[in-house]
Amino acid sequence: MKIWRPFTQEKIVPPAIKVVKGDGLYLYTENGKKYADMISSWWVNIHGHANKEIAEAISKQAATLEQVIFTAFSHQPAEEIAEKLKSVLPNSLNKFFFSDNGSTAVEVALKMAYQFFKNNGETNRKIYMHLEGSYHGDTYGAMSVSGRKSMYHFNFSDFFFDTISIKVPEFHEETQNIEQRENKIIKGVEKTLEQRGHEVCALIVEPLLQAAKGMVVYRSEFLERLIATVRKFGVLVIFDEVMTGFYRTGRFFAMDYLKHEKPDLLCISKALTGGFLPLSITVATEQIYNAFLSDDFSKAFIHGHSYTGNPIACAAACKSFDILMREETIRNIKAIEEFHKRTKLQNVHNRRSLGVMTAFDMTSVEAAKELADQLFEKGIFVRPLGKTVYLLPPYCISIDELDWVYREISHVLN
Ligand SMILES: Cc1ncc(COP(=O)(O)O)c(C=O)c1O
Repeated sequence: MKIWRPFTQEKIVPPAIKVVKGDGLYLYTENGKKYADMISSWWVNIHGHANKEIAEAISKQAATLEQVIFTAFSHQPAEEIAEKLKSVLPNSLNKFFFSDNGSTAVEVALKMAYQFFKNNGETNRKIYMHLEGSYHGDTYGAMSVSGRKSMYHFNFSDFFFDTISIKVPEFHEETQNIEQRENKIIKGVEKTLEQRGHEVCALIVEPLLQAAKGMVVYRSEFLERLIATVRKFGVLVIFDEVMTGFYRTGRFFAMDYLKHEKPDLLCISKALTGGFLPLSITVATEQIYNAFLSDDFSKAFIHGHSYTGNPIACAAACKSFDILMREETIRNIKAIEEFHKRTKLQNVHNRRSLGVMTAFDMTSVEAAKELADQLFEKGIFVRPLGKTVYLLPPYCISIDELDWVYREISHVLN
């Protein structure tokens, strides 16, 4: 028997370590060790591992209604999570389409954007715009609008559809002339759209934080200008908040940093269930939803999955939302954010922090791996992205624990 792991070159990495238990910040392994999970297990479990309240909500829901076909039927947990999310979203975003992972939430948004125009008789809008080096998932559509040359996706480039890629004005402690760089990119986008704007259906972005690329941060001022520019050409805007949602950036959604522009479509997943179960939602505006209403079935959004809107996952999402909205949780989020901002690290490059995320670059991939290996020896789990090392802890971490992690990092770096 062999388990084939994701994103893993099985020939060169050591066998997986068996985890027997999770509790808050910590993972406990079969061989009696304990590790602080400083990346929230691929950014999902915002309240820490094995949160008792979410576990209880799941247990209760499983004994009440575990699953139901989500066409003729609906259920209370799905309606409740949609209502809860509506309360923190702009009024314009109020149509909720369920699926079960981030890549699929993105596929759904891409398909909705294209079909929106098609249903309205505009059949020539077949191109998507995206930011260079983004990561939107591993299905073909999501890969096509991601960093196409990245190690995640280049093996499949023969099959990608036509897109327009936009450069990203990266912003960190050492950045200079940011406005000049932003201006140049916006002018370039405008020029491209003057020629091809009528062919473009949507722009998709990871707002403010390109996570898998290497925790790359860019300014909200740039994003607002980019959106205003593409909108002049009738292009729809998709925010992929699969990673940035649920206070990762210090606000409920990264879109909350924008003063003027909001997306037409929003993708959320990962932290939606507090990291307990797979669930995702694509939220659309009324205008998009209405374009699918017709007496003609072919104009419907003909897409779905066996586990669409799973009641247990929705119950977990409702409980996770309630915990997230507590004063105590928000206080912890702010404390983590402030700690990242005020705590310096020597011998690192391009430090950037946004919300509960902080990242820096080492001089090489090997140096980043060496740092991660040494931290692991001390009971701290991080997983570098190339030469970038980052922290993205669950909100239950205490400042003492965070301080310990920083001290251990400094110790290795020095
Ligand atoms: C911004 C973003 N979009 C989409 C995805 C894909 O989500 P999933 O892994 O659930 O398919 C990810 C995963 O890391 C992501 O970071």
